[in-house]
Amino acid sequence: MSNKRTIGMWLYQNGGGNAIQKKIIKKLKERDINTIPHLNLRNAIARNGNIICKSDGCGKNHKLNKLDLFFSYNAGEQTQYQVYLYEALNRVIPTINSYEAFALTEDKFHTAFMLRQKSIATPDYTLCHRDDGHQLKKIIKKWDKMVYKPTDSWGGVGLAKIENEASLDMLIPFLNHMDLRYFYVEKFIKYDNTDFRVDIVDGKFVACYGRKASATDWRTNITSGGSVFVREANDEIIDISIKACKACGIDIGGVDIIYDQEKEEYVVLEVNGIPAFATPEQEKMGLDFNNKKIDLIVDLIDRKTKKQRMKNGTK
Ligand SMILES: Nc1ncnc2c1ncn2[C@@H]1O[C@H](COP(=O)(O)OP(=O)(O)O)[C@@H](O)[C@H]1O
Ligand SMILES: [Mg+2]
Repeated sequence: MSNKRTIGMWLYQNGGGNAIQKKIIKKLKERDINTIPHLNLRNAIARNGNIICKSDGCGKNHKLNKLDLFFSYNAGEQTQYQVYLYEALNRVIPTINSYEAFALTEDKFHTAFMLRQKSIATPDYTLCHRDDGHQLKKIIKKWDKMVYKPTDSWGGVGLAKIENEASLDMLIPFLNHMDLRYFYVEKFIKYDNTDFRVDIVDGKFVACYGRKASATDWRTNITSGGSVFVREANDEIIDISIKACKACGIDIGGVDIIYDQEKEEYVVLEVNGIPAFATPEQEKMGLDFNNKKIDLIVDLIDRKTKKQRMKNGTK
């Protein structure tokens, strides 16, 4: 291992990601940390004791297992192969987020389950075996309306709002037709069609913004037509978000929160493991948290790599 700390990085390049990457690399360099960017595990090969990857798929081979840390920050592009290697890599070097936390937050049921362990409010939910579909009938009587969620979805995709028993009767044969192992449903929360997205890094509050659903949709996701707006968090929201990230063991998280008008409390919908930086357009709108987020990430990488060197007995 060279004397200089060296980390690997795979960060999304669209929506201003490229400029963010440059800033992170520069700030790490100021702390004498070297970065190898564009390490897409899609291009990696595991051979005996090593995971080998070229930056951007060309040039020199790097042994990822010899790095001081791997920073994986590219949502939506992860294939099963990449995730499988991420898991292996995480066994031998620190990763951000840790593979365990990443895998946990990729799954909505596991996340809600862990949040409830720490008494963090989430929508009421039920997970049942696919053969227990009759449970859903019982539940909708109690809940009135519910949301069917694929546990591994994102961007509001695949969510179905079930308004009454009749629409459930229509949905069940369709779900049975798909090769699902289980059903995950949540009580539909009566809310004002806006949410809070709270960014946390290393247990510290970075920023909050809001998203508002379009007039024709109940989901706030941008991909479902929602729009971002400047929104302040209050102490309670910040506190819940920090606790939610801690419950998931996640270093960098984006917590989705809505206000339940019936129970009169904030509920956490999910924790996102790769929350986007503000895009250049959003920055113009006034979402000016990128530098703060970068600084906290750089601090985190600095600390984790130092710790790793101490552990390995190399200063
Ligand atoms: N239980 C619920 N009740 C009401 N609206 C919900 C509920 N769950 C999700 N939503 C709406 O759907 C959107 C997407 O849900 P979320 O759980 O964050 O999944 P995704 O990963 O698709 O963003 C939320 O931002 C919110 O607007
Ligand atoms: Mg969400």
